[in-house]
Amino acid sequence: MAECGCAPHAVDDYILPVTENIKLADRIFWMTFAAPELARRAKAGNGVMVYASQGSDPMLGRPFAVADAESGKISICYMIIGRGTELLSKVQPGASLRVRGLIGAAYPDSAKELLLAAGGVGVGAVMLKKKERAKSASLYVGMPGRGCEALADKILSIHPDAKIYTDDGSFGEGNSMFNVLPRPLGEGRQLWCCGPPGFLDAMRLYYERTPRQLYYIIDKRMACGFGGCMGCVVETANGPKRVCVDGAMFRADEVDLHDD
Ligand SMILES: Cc1cc2nc3c(=O)[nH]c(=O)nc-3n(C[C@H](O)[C@H](O)[C@H](O)COP(=O)(O)OP(=O)(O)OC[C@H]3O[C@@H](n4cnc5c(N)ncnc54)[C@H](O)[C@@H]3O)c2cc1C
Ligand code: FES
Repeated sequence: MAECGCAPHAVDDYILPVTENIKLADRIFWMTFAAPELARRAKAGNGVMVYASQGSDPMLGRPFAVADAESGKISICYMIIGRGTELLSKVQPGASLRVRGLIGAAYPDSAKELLLAAGGVGVGAVMLKKKERAKSASLYVGMPGRGCEALADKILSIHPDAKIYTDDGSFGEGNSMFNVLPRPLGEGRQLWCCGPPGFLDAMRLYYERTPRQLYYIIDKRMACGFGGCMGCVVETANGPKRVCVDGAMFRADEVDLHDD
């Protein structure tokens, strides 16, 4: 367990067998681990640090949201960005990896109704919340289009009522969720979003009149993953906060997304 006592729950290292590692779209993969204890404990908002190598290169784990937790297994949806994720994409089922978890606090959730909006691989950060909320949350996912069919199928296999939008309009319910997202959101509703910076900026603009109902799920870089190194600090209206233990969800009008 983490010795600094900073994390809100036990953070342990596990050696976990990989049961699935499939390509869902260009540079996007879905990896599943046999992890009975983590699957039992995982809540929306939790993540894991995955160590791409058994050795020391790369040394640090890479943080990912728990996208699904079911039947003694947890899954992550990840995009190849650099060396760590490139190595992950080569892992074969049957191999075992070091995984640190659970990191991140469960999302505080006081909304009567939730709209969960994701751009691409950001969907991993909101899928578990959709599962917890079932009908009282709607899931909107944007993706490029052609070549992303398997990604859409994976999301729909877990959440058949998810609404998929494709930039090229090749499948799904249209070419932009911004044509259908309700505005204003209305009493008791919140919108939580996760995705690339341009997507979050577009949400901020779209809901500029009601920023208190808009929440960002942030994927800032991490090092230790349990609150000890200050490597993931973001500036907020309430002072500096660590994404790994104080987040990863922040109200849009209270956090500075561009403080790097
Ligand atoms: C709480 C949290 C949850 C996350 N959840 C997911 C998830 O569910 N799925 C997913 O695909 N990714 C997620 N990420 C991002 C993921 O951790 C990084 O993409 C990954 O660590 C990159 O590792 P790498 O070794 O491939 O790239 P590196 O070699 O470490 O980096 C390659 C380049 O990308 C930049 N970079 C790396 N990570 C980030 C980052 N987080 N933000 C901005 N720039 C970065 C680096 O500066 C570098 O230039 C999450 C991050 C956090 C903090
Ligand atoms: S990653 Fe070390 S404090 Fe957050």
